[in-house]
Amino acid sequence: MDIIVRPTAEKVGVAAADLIEPFVRRGATLGLATGSTPNPLYMELARRHREEDLSFAECDAFLLDEYVGLERTDEQSYYATIRREFTRHIDIDDEKVHSLNGLAEDPEAEARSYEERIHAAGGVDVQILGVGANGHIAFNEPPSPLDSRTRQIDLHPTTVADNARFFDNEDQVPRTALTQGVGTIMEAHTIVLIATGAHKAEAVKALVEGPVTPGCPASVLQNHPRATIILDEDAASKLER
Ligand code: GLP
Repeated sequence: MDIIVRPTAEKVGVAAADLIEPFVRRGATLGLATGSTPNPLYMELARRHREEDLSFAECDAFLLDEYVGLERTDEQSYYATIRREFTRHIDIDDEKVHSLNGLAEDPEAEARSYEERIHAAGGVDVQILGVGANGHIAFNEPPSPLDSRTRQIDLHPTTVADNARFFDNEDQVPRTALTQGVGTIMEAHTIVLIATGAHKAEAVKALVEGPVTPGCPASVLQNHPRATIILDEDAASKLER
């Protein structure tokens, strides 16, 4: 696992964009994360689209996860969030931005069909990831089996509390979500995980220096052949090695 440290969140975004751009130029299948951490990366990619002719027209994209129970039109759904924060600012075909249906009547069937859609697209070429303060990736809460597949999951109280900042109050945060599994994510050809801020320093330490364990799902990236972790100085501040 390669580690890159940059002084600020904006520079983390630029370093991540440098890794993602060659994939975009060859029309790759992108794995997109929501959350606030990737926003500087998305702003930088949108800038390159506007100013440097970086086209996403040949790309497909798959989101990692979705809340259960929110309408697509709900501004907190990840369907709406990725469009607002990223894809409406670039030239990707909206039909090619795939996400899990959090209103599916049969969540297990929806999860299976999502895996099939990823497979039919030839798999994810480059997966953008954030990390939760408790070590989750996508919505794979600890403990999550390291070979888990796309499924419905109950959110951990710390995740509900962390994500309450996007809602009017904590009661409005959905308690369940659909998420790609840890094993699903690990099948991406290349992974770029970004983390910024001191509140991520413990999770970063566990993911980089701790044991590979379901207790910290992000630690599985130690086993990925092409994973790069890009951190700002605050997120890297507890690393010892
Ligand atoms: C959310 C998302 C994750 C994201 C993480 C961190 O719950 N499901 O995909 O990486 O939490 O979010 P943030 O980047 O806002 O800290």
